Amino acid sequence: MIKVILITGASSGIGYDSAKILAGQGHKVYGAARRVELMEGLRDKGVIPIKMDVTDEQSMADAVQKIISAEGRIDVLVNNAGYGYLGAIENVPIAEAKRQLEVNLFGLARLTQLVLPYMRAQKSGRIINTSSVAGKAVIPFGGWYNVSKYSVEALSDALRIEVKPFGIKVVLIEPGGIKTDWGIIAADNLSASSKETAYQDAGFRMARLLRFGYTSRFLSNPKRVAKAITRAVNSRYPKVRYRLGAGSGLIVFFHTVLPARWWDGIMRKICKIK
Ligand SMILES: NC(=O)c1ccc[n+]([C@@H]2O[C@H](COP(=O)([O-])OP(=O)(O)OC[C@H]3O[C@@H](n4cnc5c(N)ncnc54)[C@H](OP(=O)(O)O)[C@@H]3O)[C@@H](O)[C@H]2O)c1
Repeated sequence: MIKVILITGASSGIGYDSAKILAGQGHKVYGAARRVELMEGLRDKGVIPIKMDVTDEQSMADAVQKIISAEGRIDVLVNNAGYGYLGAIENVPIAEAKRQLEVNLFGLARLTQLVLPYMRAQKSGRIINTSSVAGKAVIPFGGWYNVSKYSVEALSDALRIEVKPFGIKVVLIEPGGIKTDWGIIAADNLSASSKETAYQDAGFRMARLLRFGYTSRFLSNPKRVAKAITRAVNSRYPKVRYRLGAGSGLIVFFHTVLPARWWDGIMRKICKIK
């Protein structure tokens, strides 16, 4: 069945690949991001680019109205836009922490609110939220990013129960390390927030680790996550959670079974925090 899909964060990485694959399967895909120019290559594949900033209420409302006017329905919302502002809790300016939550949590929540009335009227719909293993396990300097993704997990779990009577399904995607621009943006934020502070050595070390990891062959291809998203779109009975990608299973397993101090010790060892 052909579905009308709105996917955020479609200008890069996981969102770009997801939009491409879903349009290739014949779905009507609207790809949203701030950098519309990066989505020109998706036009040939049938994706319709929409300029959207998930911190801007008007741009989200306009996008939803545009799709409803053209298609009369929205079957799937993929809330995928996001980034990592990494840094020590003491260092990260509260304005940056708020912005982290504006993009990763409140943008996702507001867009969900905007599409739900249409999905309820249709008596069907699917909300697919890109969370992360960072929504299940905490890393040093990941504090505000962890807060944002733990919140996405909680919000999605509550939403799933609330909207079931209306035929709407809620799915969480929990990627591990995926080779996209995410790691370099996170490393740059970590370096900037650690510079000339008490956390500089450990922060710089962690930023170097991130840069190494995100330019290496060890991380997973974003197409893997895109394929999980397409399964969540197409499957009659989608899973509640799709956890996949480098390290995801092990990280969540150890964070769950190990005593908190053991986990802290491993993290301190990796980041060489005495
Ligand atoms: N890569 C990983 O290792 C990893 C692991 C777990 C979870 N994730 C999550 O996966 C999702 C996709 O990330 P990615 O890895 O594909 O990173 P990416 O390549 O950096 O893509 C991030 C996307 O988010 C969009 N975005 C950022 N801020 C936005 C805003 N204010 N308004 C609208 N769009 C915005 C960007 O578009 P514009 O800049 O053009 O607006 C871009 O398309 C994110 O939620 C991320 O947290 C990533």
